[in-house]
Amino acid sequence: MKLNDSLVERITSANQQHLLRYFDTLSEKEQSDFAAQLEEVDFAALPELVENYVLNRPRVAIPDDLGPAPYYPLTPRDEAQKKLYRDAVACGEELIRAGRVACLTVAGGQGTRLGFDGPKGTFPIGPVSGRPLFAYFAGGIRRTEKKYGVKIVWYLMTSRLNHEATVAFFKQNNYFGLDADQVFFFTQGTMPAIGYDGKLLMNAKNSLALSPDGHGGTLLALRKSGALDRMKRDGVDTISYFQVDNPLVPVVDPKFIGLHRLTGSQMSAVMLAKTNAMEKLGNFCVSRNRLQIIEYSDLPKELAEKTLPDGTLAFIAGSPAIHVIDRTFVETLTAGGKLQLPWHRADKKIPFIDQNGNPAAPESPNGVKLESFIFDALPLAEKTMVLECDRAEVFAPTKNPTGVDSVESCRAMLVDRDCRRLAAVGVEIGAGALVEIDPALAVDAADVADVVAERKISAIAPGEKVVIQ
Ligand code: UTP
Repeated sequence: MKLNDSLVERITSANQQHLLRYFDTLSEKEQSDFAAQLEEVDFAALPELVENYVLNRPRVAIPDDLGPAPYYPLTPRDEAQKKLYRDAVACGEELIRAGRVACLTVAGGQGTRLGFDGPKGTFPIGPVSGRPLFAYFAGGIRRTEKKYGVKIVWYLMTSRLNHEATVAFFKQNNYFGLDADQVFFFTQGTMPAIGYDGKLLMNAKNSLALSPDGHGGTLLALRKSGALDRMKRDGVDTISYFQVDNPLVPVVDPKFIGLHRLTGSQMSAVMLAKTNAMEKLGNFCVSRNRLQIIEYSDLPKELAEKTLPDGTLAFIAGSPAIHVIDRTFVETLTAGGKLQLPWHRADKKIPFIDQNGNPAAPESPNGVKLESFIFDALPLAEKTMVLECDRAEVFAPTKNPTGVDSVESCRAMLVDRDCRRLAAVGVEIGAGALVEIDPALAVDAADVADVVAERKISAIAPGEKVVIQ
């Protein structure tokens, strides 16, 4: 097969001729697969990316007027705010009941830190049952549907690297009790990894080393996949967005959704009070009246450590990556089938084939992966809203096998949450008991109270391991 001249020219002008080194040795099929992959690369944009993100380290410009973002506090400040929160719950419930809310989970990441073989959502996180992460969200959706007498569609973003395995897992598990047509899988885009010398890395003689383009890829993927069209057809205008590695998150939070709507926000965010100045959470900031998140690694130390007269951190608001997004906002952003959010550089160990075509697994970082982040859409919104939530109720990320933000800490938080809800309605919890409530039974404290009353649960014995289902 002969590559088309225009492609060869684009490759050559971007100084990437090495990609064609093995082309003549490939079979017809390998050649056409590789050609299709190469066609997708924006070679015209590559030299600038290499210059700005690989050969040089991108600097995050910190605006001179940067200040902490305002937010709605967990505890209402006064009577008016108390009423606003009550109205928000009512409004959110109404939106859910009217079928205007869909769930969106991003599950396209590679989960490198967890080191688990398979899509992260298949990880058995249940502290007693070992139920997978996906089952938590499916359970939450089922319970919410029952509560509000409505059908909720779940939009699930995969990447090309884990799409098939994810879909197969859902099939094997009968969609965790959901109907097949209410899980809308869609796949995000990819970006080629770039070696430190500015050359695209290959992971085989007929393939680039590709990786998912970051959760910022969600917005364009929603359009390209037809997800936005489906939402519109279904009458959905409000998207509840969360990450696959956080099983503690309420899949749909009436108060958050209602406040988003009542404040006229296009994209809203949950905030948590940071536990220390350097906690690894993005920081909510404002500049020129626009909300933005600055990564913990980019916020200058003197700002991160700045305190208010009462001793609390000035930049207290950290992001657990939980959002409500208007469908129409995504439509506007992606109109014309294009959206370029800023790239973020990550230095990684990227397996590649060397000059002789032999596979190599580097022991230290050898190149750069570029990802875009969904929170970079916040400054593009005219109206945003930030709501403080209780960390123990919404955020238990599973990033690492042990330690901070790990499988261990996540399981402990899931157990604590369920025990707290049981204890609140008088159930005695024995020391060392491990309790897990089926997420399809309860999405909030009121649900747990009903389960306890119905089943007459009065105590969990010390050391008992139990799944209430
Ligand atoms: P992380 O930034 O924690 O990345 O993703 P990760 O890939 O899961 O894990 P590491 O960094 O390799 O250890 C946060 C969320 O965003 C999703 C992930 O699936 C997770 O839900 N994500 C991330 C995507 O959907 N696509 C991406 O390209 C990156």
